[in-house]
Amino acid sequence: MASRHKGTMRVSRAFREESNISSDSEEKHPGRRLQHPDVFSALRILVSLALTACFLYQSLGTLRLYLMYPTTMDASTEGLETLKFPAVSICITNWVNKTLLCVKYRQFCNFEPSMIPQLRALLNSAGNLGEIAARPKRIIETNFEDPSLYYYRFVYEDEQIQQTFSRLPKYMCYTLNWRGNSEMDSYHEYPPLFEFSMYIQWRTDQIIVLDDFEVTMDFHSVFVLSAGEVHTMILKPNGNYEYNTEQSVTRLLPPPYDTKCMDYERLGEHPLYPAFMTQTLCSYECQRQITRDMCNCTPTGYPFRNKLSENVCTEQVTGKT
Ligand SMILES: *[C@@H]1O[C@H](CO)[C@@H](O)[C@H](O)[C@H]1NC(C)=O
Repeated sequence: MASRHKGTMRVSRAFREESNISSDSEEKHPGRRLQHPDVFSALRILVSLALTACFLYQSLGTLRLYLMYPTTMDASTEGLETLKFPAVSICITNWVNKTLLCVKYRQFCNFEPSMIPQLRALLNSAGNLGEIAARPKRIIETNFEDPSLYYYRFVYEDEQIQQTFSRLPKYMCYTLNWRGNSEMDSYHEYPPLFEFSMYIQWRTDQIIVLDDFEVTMDFHSVFVLSAGEVHTMILKPNGNYEYNTEQSVTRLLPPPYDTKCMDYERLGEHPLYPAFMTQTLCSYECQRQITRDMCNCTPTGYPFRNKLSENVCTEQVTGKT
């Protein structure tokens, strides 16, 4: 004890005086000296035991949590990422352009409803179907407006509205992506300032009607594509829809959490569209690889079939097994 208080002379001297007293009293009451340390050491042992128990309890709890590898850990970060204008992808029905169809497939000029089964068969298996699809600028019109500055308006140019993927035979999909638009390059970080309107129209004299008129839609980051995803928003003709979008960022935790993180940026951009891979796209690429190796054909549902001229896995190609 004395050595612990070495730093201050006063205290060590006081201690020495105290111990003198106790040695005095020891002479008068022998045995007492033993009694006090007994209580103290018993207390010390008790406290140590209690602390060890607490320590073990907590360690075991942590260990148990670690060994369970819980995967539903939610952490939300707010306000750190800049809010950016999203891209929009839409998929529409009745997308076949009458004129373009006739140019590529002579047998469908002077189209009549009786040819529909034949056309459906073509849409199920033909390659490069994007070539007969309605032109994006003929279906979609856009308008950006700053409500507080009524004179500030602009629209998306051709390069910002593109035919991208498909869900053949029923849907052809188009993506509106502001990258490369000089106005949006400077304003994409201020979505609350702008109102973005989009008009979708079917020119019934220029297209072939095969299904109900319908549009499915999805907002996504401009660096990816919702190809292969089932869009949750379905729009019907004559509807007027308003949306407020919210940006959320999800970060997957590294091991030991079994989140199986994959850095999609490392894979580079998709060969058929300048966007990063997604988990969905990855599994489609995998399917395509397998059917190509096994059956030398591309699955009907492959999202970029509209841009490819490959054997499609129809029943004739794969056999009905
Ligand atoms: C269909 O194709 C023709 C010829 O390229 C074009 O003039 C017309 O605008 C297109 N219509 C649609 C809806 O894409």
